[in-house]
Amino acid sequence: MMTLKLFRNARIYTPIDDGKPLAGNEMGYVAVTEEGALIVEEGYIASIGQEREILESLPSGEEVEEIDLEGRCIIPGFVDPHTHACFMGTREREFVMRLQGASYLDILKMGGGILSTVDKVRSASKEELYENTKEVVSRAAKSGITTIEIKSGYGLSLEHEIKMLEVIGQLNGNPLDVVPTFMGAHAIPMEYKDNPKAYVELVIDEMIPYVAKRNLAKYCDVFCEEGVFSVEDARRILQAARGYGLGLKLHADEVYDLGGAKLAAELKVDSAEHLLAASDEGLRAMAQNGILAVLLPATAFSLRKPFARARRMMELGVPVALATDCNPGSCYCESMEMVYRLAVLGMGLSMEEALTASTLNAAYAIGMARQVGSLQRGKKADFVVLEGETPGVMAYHLGATNVKEVYKMGKKI
Ligand code: NIG
Ligand code: FE
Repeated sequence: MMTLKLFRNARIYTPIDDGKPLAGNEMGYVAVTEEGALIVEEGYIASIGQEREILESLPSGEEVEEIDLEGRCIIPGFVDPHTHACFMGTREREFVMRLQGASYLDILKMGGGILSTVDKVRSASKEELYENTKEVVSRAAKSGITTIEIKSGYGLSLEHEIKMLEVIGQLNGNPLDVVPTFMGAHAIPMEYKDNPKAYVELVIDEMIPYVAKRNLAKYCDVFCEEGVFSVEDARRILQAARGYGLGLKLHADEVYDLGGAKLAAELKVDSAEHLLAASDEGLRAMAQNGILAVLLPATAFSLRKPFARARRMMELGVPVALATDCNPGSCYCESMEMVYRLAVLGMGLSMEEALTASTLNAAYAIGMARQVGSLQRGKKADFVVLEGETPGVMAYHLGATNVKEVYKMGKKI
């Protein structure tokens, strides 16, 4: 006989999935159930609501394992829809250089930055890369992340991009849901320094077709930035990726406003990321086309830059999601609790808006909302138990982690 799990005595906070990302005021509508409970069957939520009603609905004679959550707040497992968590080594010295005034893009121009991680990833074996990525992912899971997107982009050759995507694929289901994104267009590798156009051709003619045919990625992403990939390069790469059936993402207007947000709207990408420097015109175009913004406040914080204009985006009707951007350069952060905190305290989101942005809207950003992102019947029983009464505790109690327990498909991780 199958055992059901009953989680009881919980304060449940969850956004409600209505079939599309929440925008504007809707981001603040979060359902609260004071004396709540949920029943988990085979890893999925069989029922959820008032404890009294849930207990009444329990079939008699069925074996039930009972877990008392002692009045704590539970929220959906965090969904992290933007990471570069597959890497080797760290770049602490470069961080110190930045503290002394060097800029992120200057370091990249000198062959450091992303390119120094590329050297380390290329010389690592697949097993070493797997072990390192697994460690990063388990730290992410401890912070409450139960679904994560991971990009390639530190290989920058067919061989090493494939190595990265295979490693990312191996991590799926073990225990997190892992969504792979191909990001061969993350930087121009050293060997193409004098002929960057030829690298763009390589991405379009060889990498994308190979990745798509072998089903190694769900999305294709491009770093559209001054001195990296131009708007024209990004358009060509993303159009090619679309032709092969990949979903589209764009690192847009992170450092300079090149018109990335407008390009995101023109191509109707699945999400546009960063947007620190995006103009009102670009944001309006995104709103008109319903393009989701994935904001990365820990990156702005780590680069000592002003945060993205989240409130302005929401005012214009752009649905907003949050992510860590976890990577060894611009943002060494695998904690969504930290991101939540910065969204509330730094970008002015309410405790409810930040919850929606880091769970349901984040799930939409990576096409996972049918399975995860809210605590509703039929979705995976992925949730976080907080040491507190509301999700706001994560922004309130700064000196501690407030994530007490993390459950993936009803099992503690
Ligand atoms: O999203 N902007 C480009 N890529 C990453 C940084 C990667 C790195 O520095 O290694 C980002 O910030
Ligand atoms: Fe990124």
